[in-house]
Amino acid sequence: MRISVIGAGYVGLVTAAALASKGHNVIVVDTDETRVGMVNQKKSPIFEEGLDDMLSNCIDSNHLRATGDYREILPTDITLICVGTPSNPDGSMNLSYIKESARDIGRVLGAENGHHTVVVRSTVVPGTTKKVITPALEQHSGKKAHMDFDVAVNPEFLQEGKALHGFFNPDRIIIGEEERRAGDMVEKLYEGISAPVIRMGITTAEMIKFTSNAFLATKISFINDIGNICKKLGVDVYDVVKGVGIDYRIGEYFLNAGIGFGGSCLPKDLKALVHASGHLGYQPLVLESVLEVNRNQILTMLQMVEEKLGNLKGKTVCVLGLAFKPNTDDIRNAPALEVIRLLMEKGASVKAYDPLAMPNAKSALSEQVEYCRNAKEAVAGCDCILVLTEWDEFKDESLYHGKMVFDGRRVLDPGEAETFCDYCGICW
Ligand code: UDX
Ligand code: UDX
Repeated sequence: MRISVIGAGYVGLVTAAALASKGHNVIVVDTDETRVGMVNQKKSPIFEEGLDDMLSNCIDSNHLRATGDYREILPTDITLICVGTPSNPDGSMNLSYIKESARDIGRVLGAENGHHTVVVRSTVVPGTTKKVITPALEQHSGKKAHMDFDVAVNPEFLQEGKALHGFFNPDRIIIGEEERRAGDMVEKLYEGISAPVIRMGITTAEMIKFTSNAFLATKISFINDIGNICKKLGVDVYDVVKGVGIDYRIGEYFLNAGIGFGGSCLPKDLKALVHASGHLGYQPLVLESVLEVNRNQILTMLQMVEEKLGNLKGKTVCVLGLAFKPNTDDIRNAPALEVIRLLMEKGASVKAYDPLAMPNAKSALSEQVEYCRNAKEAVAGCDCILVLTEWDEFKDESLYHGKMVFDGRRVLDPGEAETFCDYCGICW
């Protein structure tokens, strides 16, 4: 198939490279010229395991190319919208990139003679495809949706760090469609991939993505709530999970207690869902609490540090881990960034190290953080260590000998850690 993908971010590039590697002819359209140049030079602008190699192979075999020119989507059969949908300051979803891409796709579709399918792969608040994207495509093309061109929804469930693996081994493929023809086109993209394909209406498909992310976030805040109670009881929440997770109705996954969830999706999608609910006249009490518990984990970490270290003015705090989770360079909504801001507000100096995320953290933080070349350099001479991302290299116990350690990710076994450092787990 001839495929165009709008947006060369995590979702767009992974989708484009994966489809090109299956033998489809793919072009990636991005408004950022630097990104376009990098992709064409076989260099991924973002870090994702295996993506550089896959991009390189697909470009060499002429199956993939990047461009800044929307007109190049004209000869393709199907266009996947993968632009970002970040948060507005009030928590609502910022649809400006989605609207711009719908406008630009619409303008091209105006000149199209064949039949085109537009697929929304970005996460959008349920109702957005019907109420915002389809009307914009119609307005700017002068054509009628579901007659002259088709619209479908195909949410991504890619987890950063294992996104390519996730593309080829999905738990399910969700297709939202108004007419069979559009759903069939989307299903064709995944030919050869073994997974249940579930087809439904467009708004239902959008809601499935939000519900998945809301549930994952709820599991994390739930176990952090339980962990906070356990800590007061002198019970280890990780032992509790071993006994609880074995119940198939509950499951062992996403029950790692700690500093809380971050990333480009869970926090933003949850906030957008709470915001959208308010507009529908419903107050989602569970979801609001999930966000509150997540915020409180950060404040709890700060409180623990202050309780043990006293006034933070003039103290040097080492932060190990900046990315929102290991095996990514992504720092969007990473708990570490907020912890650093609060530490510095209280007068502490911060030394930090992350194997991949330091360049991104440097651009995101205006604070004067001392970025170190490795973990050993970061821990040297500090008053305490905060572990905020569970990178494998932070499991090296020699980093912590004789230090005061606050573990936000359970990188150390508490029983063992107590023998070589002054150890404090966030909720264990
Ligand atoms: C984003 C959202 O975070 C996610 O919820 C959604 O499901 C898919 O999009 P991500 O791929 O990580 O995920 O976003 P980002 O890395 O910001 O990439 C978006 C890309 O789109 C960027 O390369 C940006 O330059 C490009 N873009 C943005 C356009 O090409 N045109 C625009 O108008 C806006
Ligand atoms: C998530 C969803 O998993 C994915 O399906 C969706 O498409 C995009 O959002 P991602 O943001 O890549 O993926 O990260 P994920 O692995 O879900 O982790 C999210 C956050 O939760 C991370 O900050 C992680 O550290 C935290 N987390 C995860 C916990 O605190 N405890 C856990 O048990 C699991």
